[in-house]
Amino acid sequence: MKLSANLEAAFNAQITLEFQASLVYRQLAIELELRDLPGMAAWLRHQADEEIVHANKFIDHVADRDNHPLIGGTTAPEVTVTSVLDAFEAALAHEEKVSASIRDLYRSAESEGDLDSRPLLNWFLAEQIEEESTVNEIIGRVRMINDDGPGLLRLDEELGSRPVATTEPPA
Ligand code: FEO
Repeated sequence: MKLSANLEAAFNAQITLEFQASLVYRQLAIELELRDLPGMAAWLRHQADEEIVHANKFIDHVADRDNHPLIGGTTAPEVTVTSVLDAFEAALAHEEKVSASIRDLYRSAESEGDLDSRPLLNWFLAEQIEEESTVNEIIGRVRMINDDGPGLLRLDEELGSRPVATTEPPA
């Protein structure tokens, strides 16, 4: 069943927001790479890739519903990073924005009785809980470390060892 014109527009806005999230994470990765924290940078870069996977999930859904996926305009990420904490707080702020948008999308779909989008939106609701929780935990640990060099290097190493199998196909 096709999405209504209203839902099609809302899904397309979500596609654009996921690409925007990817740009934010990619810029944050650059900022931490420049601070000689390659592990954290790799973690953020992986998140950037994951956001593209998210955008693709929405694109596939819109196309599968016989609607027209359209990528809208993105803007420069414009993140200001003066500390490691800044970087992860910026990541959390964007995740919260994405979560709110997915909840709105869910409410719109429910108000139209669009059952076909439920499985996808349920997946995204769960994914957002997970993403916010992970970033929140990192923020908590960065606060504990409080600019202690050896502590930051340990966390950098740990985040850099995160498996990347979920978004990158095997070689
Ligand atoms: Fe696609 Fe991290 O939200």
